[in-house]
Amino acid sequence: MTETTAKITLGDKSVESPILSGTVGPDVVDIRKFYGQTGAFTYDPGFTSTASCESKLTYIDGDEGVLLHRGYPIGELAEHSSFMEVAYLLLNGELPSADELTRFDNTITRHTMVHEQLATFYRGFRRDAHPMAILCGVVGALSAFYHDSTDINDPHQRMIASHRLIAKMPTIAAMAYKYSVGQPFVYPRNDLGYTHNFLRMTFGVPAEEYQVDPAVVRALDRIFILHADHEQNASTSTVRLAGSSGANPFACIAAGIACLWGPAHGGANEAALNMLREIGRPERIPEYIARAKDKDDPFRLMGFGHRVYKNYDPRATVMQKTVREVFAALQVNDPMFDVALQLEEMALNDDYFIEKKLFPNVDFYSGVILSAIGFPTTMFTVLFALARTVGWVAQWNEMISDPAQKIGRPRQLYTGPVQRSYVPVEKR
Ligand code: CMC
Repeated sequence: MTETTAKITLGDKSVESPILSGTVGPDVVDIRKFYGQTGAFTYDPGFTSTASCESKLTYIDGDEGVLLHRGYPIGELAEHSSFMEVAYLLLNGELPSADELTRFDNTITRHTMVHEQLATFYRGFRRDAHPMAILCGVVGALSAFYHDSTDINDPHQRMIASHRLIAKMPTIAAMAYKYSVGQPFVYPRNDLGYTHNFLRMTFGVPAEEYQVDPAVVRALDRIFILHADHEQNASTSTVRLAGSSGANPFACIAAGIACLWGPAHGGANEAALNMLREIGRPERIPEYIARAKDKDDPFRLMGFGHRVYKNYDPRATVMQKTVREVFAALQVNDPMFDVALQLEEMALNDDYFIEKKLFPNVDFYSGVILSAIGFPTTMFTVLFALARTVGWVAQWNEMISDPAQKIGRPRQLYTGPVQRSYVPVEKR
């Protein structure tokens, strides 16, 4: 018989905590009453054993290398779906009918323009500002422009804010790039699909018609699908935590962007390509593998390892295939891809990486593709943020609608001084 409670004994006290089961995945021990019953907190820095919420959006089995959105495997979505369809799925729970998809697509398309005043906001940044710094600032500033969609208790306003964020992110991201290269901002065009529109706003110029190979549009759309959501990762948890206080959605997504920027998270794609360039030639790979294994060297193989995946990241599989498609379409051949392939092979056959179950993650190959399309490395994490906005808003909506939702307020293990009396400065 399956146990329905977990018995935890602390000294002479024994408490029974309910065990909750999801549809799939590990059970969780419900410790919400634990402090009240025992006077003790649980301790889990980095949340390695803690479920922070209930969610119906995304499921990961890290040991098997499985990633499902609303039950659908990421490989199938990447192969057959579109980013707009995945966005609809994550937001609404089911795949759309043809009619629903057209309506959703039209709604997003009609929200892609940003308030004209926002353009002047960009001019306050230095031209060499990192586009992630610009993205953080501009997305946070959206709450000052769209007052009519900041009431989080109104489901209609929440939906408008969600659509606005998904729709305006490509425009804002493209403007960050344009600003950094000193070219004029390109307005969105409603007759183009989401990803095609973004590419045109990024690389198009007023002087000529923008042409792009459909294979490139499809590849980037697929990259967006691969980044759309990833359950309770650091930036998503940041969005949820910020949102738990009742903060407006634009502020919450800006908080998520700030968290994503770190090199252990979304910043790894930029760091991974920089690393491949630094390695430069296959002959130098052993030196870098040795450094990654050296405890006294802080260097890590970027794009390798994952908190949850202890197997091949299923997104990396699709990425590797996409590199080949983009190279064929653009007729390019970046030697960094060969370095990446050989580095992967060598690491996967090395005892250190085998023992620690370190496999390539989504960021290992994405940089090679994005670079071939023409994005500078500083834009890589911006693209991640653009796509992850879908997951962030879906998770944020789910949290606000959850009756069990409370302000996030972790406790701590205090190891500072105990109470002591203030000593006036002349007596110290
Ligand atoms: N290269 C070398 N050693 C590694 C690496 C790596 N990339 N990743 C983990 N290790 C080692 C680490 O030194 C540790 O060894 P030990 O047990 O001897 O101290 C062990 O593996 C476990 O690592 P950890 O840091 O305790 O594991 P974590 O779950 O806290 O970290 C991670 C996960 C993704 C932050 C880490 O693997 C890492 O820093 N990878 C490189 C950065 C990267 O590619 N990040 C992208 C993640 S996927 C996209 C995203 O989430 O945004």
